[in-house]
Amino acid sequence: MPHASTASSAMTGTALVTGGGSGIGRAVAVALAAAGMRVVVTGRTEETLAHTVKEIRAAGGTASHVLADVTVGDEVARAVRTVADRYGSLDVAVNNAGLPSWGLAADVPPQEWDQVLGVNVTGTWLCMKYEIEQMLRQRRGSIVNVSSRIGAHMRVTHQSAYASSKAAVSTLTRSAAREYIAHGIRINAVSPGPTDTAMAVWPGETPADRDTRVAREIPAGRLARPEEIAAAVVWLASPAAAYVVGHDLVVDGGLSA
Ligand SMILES: NC(=O)c1ccc[n+]([C@@H]2O[C@H](COP(=O)([O-])OP(=O)(O)OC[C@H]3O[C@@H](n4cnc5c(N)ncnc54)[C@H](OP(=O)(O)O)[C@@H]3O)[C@@H](O)[C@H]2O)c1
Repeated sequence: MPHASTASSAMTGTALVTGGGSGIGRAVAVALAAAGMRVVVTGRTEETLAHTVKEIRAAGGTASHVLADVTVGDEVARAVRTVADRYGSLDVAVNNAGLPSWGLAADVPPQEWDQVLGVNVTGTWLCMKYEIEQMLRQRRGSIVNVSSRIGAHMRVTHQSAYASSKAAVSTLTRSAAREYIAHGIRINAVSPGPTDTAMAVWPGETPADRDTRVAREIPAGRLARPEEIAAAVVWLASPAAAYVVGHDLVVDGGLSA
């Protein structure tokens, strides 16, 4: 796939990226800004969000941040309102905030189950709810949810809570896509495979252990770079994908092929 900035040079307007302070979210924010969009990043940590904003501005882009916990409806609503008030519209929303979880199904502590489902499913749904309300007023918009190859596409042991949450994100994406395309709102997902962020290191592993594991497991022989996931997100969000609706694009180096 070509670099995001060349694939989507026609992008305009404002994008909101949740979990935009780190990993895939930061790469998506940087790529959307490079493609020509104003970007607002959200998350719970001011310092990491400010770092993303600084990186975008240093490259000549326009960016700002707003603090929001995706599990708190009022905070999500405020974040969406802030984007619309600050820049006039919400054209692209990337719902990327997520949490991992490890453990056999019967061993997952109930509190952890609630937390993972709360952030990954309810958080994604709350973001979509307020983004869609804004996009309905505009009669246009594009939403990309960051799901996972684990869930709808493949199952592995010790990740049932995470897999359940991401299967729900993939299904929510496709259901809502059918509901809103007639209103001008295009909804898709990207389902990454193991990607070089903090989340891809399993408990008890060193980064070197992780590299050995993925070289064995992944047909491509390596992790994805966050920028490679971002390129897929930007393409789906862009006018180049205008007729792509309810797609869940797996980007996993052949793992689930
Ligand atoms: N890395 C992988 O191998 C991989 C593979 C498949 C899918 N994914 C998905 O990709 C997405 C990004 O993950 P990543 O790998 O980039 O890991 P990451 O660097 O840990 O990013 C997760 C982001 O989510 C934010 N977040 C977590 N809970 C939140 C909450 N309650 N409210 C708002 N923001 C919250 C975090 O920011 P704060 O903590 O500052 O709020 C952080 O910026 C996730 O949805 C993940 O499931 C990752």
